[in-house]
Amino acid sequence: MRPARCGQTPAHGQGEQNWQEWHQHYDDPGSSLAGRLRVVQRDLRRALAEAPRADGRLRLVAMCAGEGRDVLPVLASAGDPLVSAVLVEFDPGLASTARATAAELGLSGVRVRVADAGDPATYADLAPAHILMACGVFGNVTMADARRTIAAMPMLLADGGLVIWTRGHFPDDDRDPAQDLRAHFEDCGFEELAFTRPDDAHFRVGLNRLSSRRLFSFV
Ligand SMILES: C[S@@+](CC[C@H](N)C(=O)[O-])C[C@H]1O[C@@H](n2cnc3c(N)ncnc32)[C@H](O)[C@@H]1O
Repeated sequence: MRPARCGQTPAHGQGEQNWQEWHQHYDDPGSSLAGRLRVVQRDLRRALAEAPRADGRLRLVAMCAGEGRDVLPVLASAGDPLVSAVLVEFDPGLASTARATAAELGLSGVRVRVADAGDPATYADLAPAHILMACGVFGNVTMADARRTIAAMPMLLADGGLVIWTRGHFPDDDRDPAQDLRAHFEDCGFEELAFTRPDDAHFRVGLNRLSSRRLFSFV
């Protein structure tokens, strides 16, 4: 199934996609989505090892988390009681699935919040995250929204915090939008730790670290 393209969704809400159905593509190990999942989970394992912590504790926030298929199994296999996570998902059904999975996996440090991940108020009571996930987000919003979200990420992150993000690219698009996003992360003070662009798949996965909060330096 082809995900919605950049700019197809309205400014508020979840867009017109059936996200329950979308998640079923994870069940086919040969699907592009399953391939993307393997890369995101690999990067998340790395992020858990390399992210900063506060007194040993690590906080993760996932925007538009869906069923949490990327985050929850990795947290379970890490088995680290000092890791806590907030999954933000608009759809109550998907959130309920994520909550049930977290409970099955014994992840008592995971909270699933049914809320609008595009509203800064959703994060207002959260301490800065050490890992921020934005997977399956940028391909469903306008490039202007994606840029604004990246520009706001430093406010959601602890110093040195890591971001894992994804973006699709379709062969009939002249320009790979992930390239613009990579440049924008750099402009917003993030260094790139990894960027995965498989030759045989249309997904891209980025892992970036917040390396500067400076507004400017004279050159
Ligand atoms: C492409 S799916 C990605 C799900 C998950 N991050 C993943 O990669 O498996 C997009 C998800 O964003 C959710 N969503 C859409 N708009 C949202 C919003 N404003 N706030 C929170 N979640 C939203 C949808 O319900 C859907 O679960």
